[in-house]
Amino acid sequence: MRRLLRVYLAPHWRPLSLALACAALVAVGSYAFANLLEPAVNDVLVQPDPDSLLLIPLGIVLAGLLRGLAQVGQATLVNRVGHGLVGRIQLELFGRLMRADLARLRRVHSGSLLSAVIYDSGLVREAATSGLINYAQHGLIVLAMLIQMARQDFLLTAIVLVAGPLASLIMRRFAKRTRKAAQGAMSETSALSSNILEALNGVRVIKMENQELAEEKRFAAVVDRRQAHVIKGANARAAAAPATETLSAFVVAAIIAWGGLRAGSGAVNAGEFVSFLGSLGLASQSLRQLSNLQSVMAEGLTAARRLFAALDIEPEIREAPDALILDRAQGLVRFEHVGFSYGDGAPILSDVDIEARPGETVALVGPSGGGKTTLLNLLPRFYDVTAGRVLLDGTDVRELTLASLRAQIALVTQEPFLFDDTVRANIAYARRDASQAEVEAAARAAAAHDFILGLPAGYDTVVGEAGARLSGGQRQRIAIARAFLKNAPVLLLDEATSALDAESERQVQDALERLMTGRTTVLIAHRLSTVRAADRIYVLQAGRVVEQGRHAELVAQGGLYARLARAQNLDLTSAAAE
Ligand SMILES: Nc1ncnc2c1ncn2[C@@H]1O[C@H](COP(=O)(O)OP(=O)(O)OP(=O)(O)O)[C@@H](O)[C@H]1O
Ligand SMILES: [Mg+2]
Repeated sequence: MRRLLRVYLAPHWRPLSLALACAALVAVGSYAFANLLEPAVNDVLVQPDPDSLLLIPLGIVLAGLLRGLAQVGQATLVNRVGHGLVGRIQLELFGRLMRADLARLRRVHSGSLLSAVIYDSGLVREAATSGLINYAQHGLIVLAMLIQMARQDFLLTAIVLVAGPLASLIMRRFAKRTRKAAQGAMSETSALSSNILEALNGVRVIKMENQELAEEKRFAAVVDRRQAHVIKGANARAAAAPATETLSAFVVAAIIAWGGLRAGSGAVNAGEFVSFLGSLGLASQSLRQLSNLQSVMAEGLTAARRLFAALDIEPEIREAPDALILDRAQGLVRFEHVGFSYGDGAPILSDVDIEARPGETVALVGPSGGGKTTLLNLLPRFYDVTAGRVLLDGTDVRELTLASLRAQIALVTQEPFLFDDTVRANIAYARRDASQAEVEAAARAAAAHDFILGLPAGYDTVVGEAGARLSGGQRQRIAIARAFLKNAPVLLLDEATSALDAESERQVQDALERLMTGRTTVLIAHRLSTVRAADRIYVLQAGRVVEQGRHAELVAQGGLYARLARAQNLDLTSAAAE
């Protein structure tokens, strides 16, 4: 709460204090209104007086007008600050997400991140702005009414005040319940968005396996759980108001009884009595609002706690303060005694030594799960090594700025990601200032130009979510065009051709070979035909380099690589040797 005030609300102190002033005016309006009740009864009803007949109603209208205007002013000011606040929190969260470690993003489902950005920030807004100011407003009204009541009848007010602690006790009770329900509702809202995202991403599998009904059931279960929490919260909120209201009914009854007794003895007149009751009515109305707000605050603070926890996680992959800027690398890549594990898990890589000299092509092969992709991820620092070093041009990658390090590397993977934008924007993603001629040249080099011209709007065709309107081979070639345009000295290929049919594989293969010339390439391939021409092949098994050498040497060694090659009918040399 304090942080909310200091960081997010303090900059808006001007409109907020104006809103507070408005809240005070509302209280003043109520005070004036309650004050006017006494002469209204005594001078208008009991002993009519022509002047009062005109003045009192006018006064009441003015008090009402003041209250109304001040309320509008307050709401307008608060809304502006509040929605600005949501925007700011959303921006900060998104910024955090973009800079967060891959490891962390992989741990949390994107659905829960989505719901934090969209939903939780709204709850915080309600508590921090309208909640806070309304709290002040109703608190002030209660105070003003108490003053008015005390002026009328001190003793009676003292009696009423006894009910105060009781009311706050009730409110705290209900606030606790709403807070609990809010926590539950929030985590189920996360689950809800995760569920939707996942079902949409996996829609083909779901349809294929006829699991629509099962998915609906799974979703229904989440909806039910969330609803249960939401209903609990809403019930607690709804019960809070009647609880305080029942309490105030007791108080009113007590006052009427007491007033009746005293009126008999002539100690109190009708006007005072009505004014007292009127003040009490306004006070208890505000009290009811306060108990409502209590739950709003409880929800908002719960959300704030969650959001701040998310905002406070510092990425572990950070630039050194004196990081070097690498202009353009020669392309010397070296892994030295590299060890790695995900989190606290078992080691995925141990003591890996790999070198690719400028312009060389180095291939990583080996059984699935051997750690090849993991190894590639270490060069652009998607993850940091847990032992050893990764060097680019002889400099530890951790000593370079992230931007200049990643500018040296182009990555093409098996499932390239395209944004829901035009073909041109996707190719020029890394270099948004690229001219049409440059984009086209890259597309030509990637054997993509012809098919792009065949698309409905050519380079302006929008490719759909994740490139869904293109074939796998087309997506692949656009990713290669992107890499051409980036023109980085180091190229990482992770099974860039394995998702393709023979015809598009040949096209993509040609494009890749053009891309590889003059660059240092580290490539992963299951089809050893793409590996044969590599300058060096490293066979990675269970996180260790078990063999290394050129194709012919490895085949001649008769080890793991030779077995893999034989399985793919590529062992012609070894067959000759046997
Ligand atoms: N984000 C992650 N968190 C934890 N473990 C992971 C993560 N990514 C991969 N692993 C584990 O690391 C090991 C190596 O995975 P990796 O993807 O590097 O293998 P690979 O050699 O590329 O396999 P493939 O040939 O099938 O692509 C696997 O056992 C996998 O379970
Ligand atoms: Mg892999």
